[in-house]
Amino acid sequence: MNFQTWEIEDRLRLMGKYFDLDALLAKDTDNGAVEQYYRKSDFFYKLVLSRGGRAIHMGISEDGSYHKDDYLGQARFVGTLLDRPSMSVLEVGAGRLFNTRYLAEEFPGCHFTALDLPNRKFLKNRAPSNVQLIEGDYNDLSIFPENSFDVVFGVETICYAESKEHVFKEIHRVLKPGGRLVVFDGYEPKPQEEMTELEHRASAVAFAAMCVTQNDNYLGNIRKYLEASYSKVEITDITRKVRPTLRRLDRICSYYFMHPWLIRFSKKFFPADANLNSIAGWLMFLTADGDNINQYDRIVAVK
Ligand SMILES: C[S@@+](CC[C@H](N)C(=O)[O-])C[C@H]1O[C@@H](n2cnc3c(N)ncnc32)[C@H](O)[C@@H]1O
Repeated sequence: MNFQTWEIEDRLRLMGKYFDLDALLAKDTDNGAVEQYYRKSDFFYKLVLSRGGRAIHMGISEDGSYHKDDYLGQARFVGTLLDRPSMSVLEVGAGRLFNTRYLAEEFPGCHFTALDLPNRKFLKNRAPSNVQLIEGDYNDLSIFPENSFDVVFGVETICYAESKEHVFKEIHRVLKPGGRLVVFDGYEPKPQEEMTELEHRASAVAFAAMCVTQNDNYLGNIRKYLEASYSKVEITDITRKVRPTLRRLDRICSYYFMHPWLIRFSKKFFPADANLNSIAGWLMFLTADGDNINQYDRIVAVK
């Protein structure tokens, strides 16, 4: 057994004293559950993850240390693809509009559409004039005609889809020929049959704690789905770049789990869904190992 395995085992054991992990694994992850999870967790993302900001995703660090503007990494990458005026861009699962707002301000000549579930007053977000807000589900993009967008992107959101294949097909339909899909998400680099029981449980618990489905997370299948309809698919493992954000979360969650009074206090005064985030925050620095349990990838696919 190596250090990672011991540590994961110890942490799961300790978490199990305070949270029913089997009940967590059996929880629904349908749209209703996801909506509730974000209603209860947005304040956690604001205060703990993005330190007062609106990002609901990992920062991308270029120098191995955590900086607050690492959260712009995904949007900046999408910006490198906006090389013509008047391009049309769709962000699926836009959350609190962190990425689209940045891009809309940087590229005032482009038109942006931001879509998220009808939840936490999404349409009330203040947005620049070149942004259209739409409440909806990316599993059904039939409100958009074929060939509508030059770029469609999703940051840590398509992980919620039960069938990633279906979502990639929906996006393919609304992309213009030559248009690009960009995804940033966490995956399992090995098929579940090749994972040890502990690896599988750790990955499943970390996903479940963020209300993410435990199904269809194998990266090999993601590549297969994309290569079936997109002409060029580039998958880049950038796990190393999100580890500074994960290390920071790990420290915060270590403090939480080392202080039983804090857990009791937090469980008493904060919603259950918000408390569950501590589980993901305390596992992911260990499970995001790149080639064994979880990997964080940037995907670019061309229609
Ligand atoms: C981790 S947050 C990321 C938010 C945003 N992309 C960001 O980077 O800050 C995931 C978002 O995906 C949204 N989401 C999950 N399932 C969805 C679906 N089926 N259709 C549209 N949005 C969805 C959630 O409501 C949530 O806002």
